[in-house]
Amino acid sequence: MQKLFLVSTGPGHSDFLTTATRNAIDEVSDIVGYGLYLDLLDHLVKEKVCHTTNLGEEIDRAALALNLASEGKATALVSSGDVGIYAMASVVFELMERQELNGESYPHWGDVEVRVVPGISAMQAASSRVGALLGHDFCTISLSNLLTPWQTIEKRIHSAGQGDFVVSFYNPVSKKRDWQLDRAVEILLEYRPAATPAILARNVTRPTERIQQLSLSEIRGENVDMFTLVSVGNSESRRFTTSRGSYIYTPRGYSGKL
Ligand SMILES: C[S@@+](CC[C@H](N)C(=O)[O-])C[C@H]1O[C@@H](n2cnc3c(N)ncnc32)[C@H](O)[C@@H]1O
Repeated sequence: MQKLFLVSTGPGHSDFLTTATRNAIDEVSDIVGYGLYLDLLDHLVKEKVCHTTNLGEEIDRAALALNLASEGKATALVSSGDVGIYAMASVVFELMERQELNGESYPHWGDVEVRVVPGISAMQAASSRVGALLGHDFCTISLSNLLTPWQTIEKRIHSAGQGDFVVSFYNPVSKKRDWQLDRAVEILLEYRPAATPAILARNVTRPTERIQQLSLSEIRGENVDMFTLVSVGNSESRRFTTSRGSYIYTPRGYSGKL
């Protein structure tokens, strides 16, 4: 059987690896992934043939995983967070569909059974660290304009603002992209108050985790890097403090019923 698992490894700490992910890894002989993610899997992949590729080599990584599976090696392609969210799953399906449309036959990726194993995405882990920021309708927007035109991204930020969605910004900043987050904040400020609660969640669940609570108008791109998720509440999100901590949540509207 030609089998390819697209496996989610969660935000970082092994406590957030699901049993489904562990079972999928158990079933395969070969693992494909970005080197750093495979290091994080440590003992789980020790007995496997590991094929590491570099960051930015997504197409090669997806093609390698499909080729290994086509050759009859049960294979897992691993991605951090959820493999279906800004990650490898859609790259694999894009390659498979293109091959089907082009009628190419060898190696025939269409013979591979693909199973997607979901996981915990950075936005869920980040929201849980402060309370329940994602408590009501939310959306995610990637600020990477390497593959998506900036005009499209701006349109989506305006729509999120108009719809009053809680917004999680993935890929907020990188060495080559240093202005996009500041512009996104400027746009959201057209729709919601400056004091709207927000978080900068860096390396969530990893040893260097840092969670910062702040207001929308205090977000600065210069304080953020590519290991950070930025989430901004909607116009009703609230912050409150008890003797044990400071929480942010987005109400679901129960206050009238309490
Ligand atoms: C290419 S996306 C991958 C998203 C991933 N598939 C997920 O579901 O979380 C990379 C971006 O996700 C966010 N991210 C992923 N893991 C994170 C973590 N542990 N802590 C904070 N942000 C994270 C950052 O915004 C980073 O730039």
